[in-house]
Amino acid sequence: MTPGPLRFEGREVPVLDGDTVASALFRAGVRTFSRSLKGHRRRGLYCGTGECPNCTLTVDGVPGVRSCITPAAGGMHVERGRGWPSAEHDLLHVADLAHSLMPVGFYLKTFIRPRFAWRMAERVIRRGTGSGRLPLHAPAARTVARHARCDTIVVGAGIAGLTAALEAAAGGDDVLLCDEFAIGSRLAPGPTLDAVRALETRARATPAIEILERLREIEDMRDRGLMDVLPKREQARLLEELARLEKYLGGIKAMSQLPSAVYVVDTRKEHIAIAEARKLGIPVVAIIDTNCDPDEVDYPIPGNDDAIRAVRLITSRIANAAMEGLEERRKREVVEETGEPLAASEAPEAESFDEKAVPAEAGIEALPEPVPTETLVENEVS
Ligand code: FES
Repeated sequence: MTPGPLRFEGREVPVLDGDTVASALFRAGVRTFSRSLKGHRRRGLYCGTGECPNCTLTVDGVPGVRSCITPAAGGMHVERGRGWPSAEHDLLHVADLAHSLMPVGFYLKTFIRPRFAWRMAERVIRRGTGSGRLPLHAPAARTVARHARCDTIVVGAGIAGLTAALEAAAGGDDVLLCDEFAIGSRLAPGPTLDAVRALETRARATPAIEILERLREIEDMRDRGLMDVLPKREQARLLEELARLEKYLGGIKAMSQLPSAVYVVDTRKEHIAIAEARKLGIPVVAIIDTNCDPDEVDYPIPGNDDAIRAVRLITSRIANAAMEGLEERRKREVVEETGEPLAASEAPEAESFDEKAVPAEAGIEALPEPVPTETLVENEVS
């Protein structure tokens, strides 16, 4: 985030870390964000999630920006688009007095005869209802496109969208499932979220369904050099978003199915991971310190979760066991496919994870792959 205040209609508004444009303005006392189209009634923050037109503002000359989901940055120029002389004191609000004369859609049929009337009426309507002027002299913004081929595209990954995608895939279609936000991220915990998670798990396990995800999308743009065509500010915003998504989802982004087990070092700190695992029926292997509840985990390992050496030793043993298990599984698969037992010389050596490779003074974060963080989520423990 660029530090410093943003400029809002001639005054400076302080921006805090994590602010959206709307939150910064709201803290500064702004309550009217836009005006309604016909009656010019005040419109304040409503959904806060980017799904209504209430908070649209002109940001850096671009009208119609949903301020509640736009990260604030120092130096931004923000204005309200609708209202004369200003959105705060809008004289066009008198139109609301005539609301009984303006039923829904009146503009579509009132001014069509005589024909020349529409030209004049259109100008007035545009002036009165527009939400800002497009920057006519600014260079045209470049957009990035990805061309995906599929038989069925499903927009919206709620219960209906996920079910539709599964049905289409069952019927033999290649399905592209997309949603504006991460699946289930806007739902409160409860039966609906549980149902979405269960359907999501099935969708992810279905090869015919491709889920268009923000993290993959931004990575794809970066890797193919498509970001280079975007303005610098947009690039910085996307890279910031990518870093945040990587931080929270990087460890599991390659998982195409639920893990067979979850390994946790500190069960108090990782209580959300444990709750998720329990909900999905994934066995939990965890180091249990004296301040942890052993009932939460399926395979408790008594130990000190603050001692780096102990954590490193136990984690390396778990990692080696996982690698050996994978190797064993691979051998069995080869035998099943060929019907021939592998000769000892043909059998590939199982990689092993050497805990001594990590310097004693290094923190847990320094553990090499496949134990990149305190919590190891092992995808394929056999
Ligand atoms: S308040 Fe609804 S989109 Fe911002």
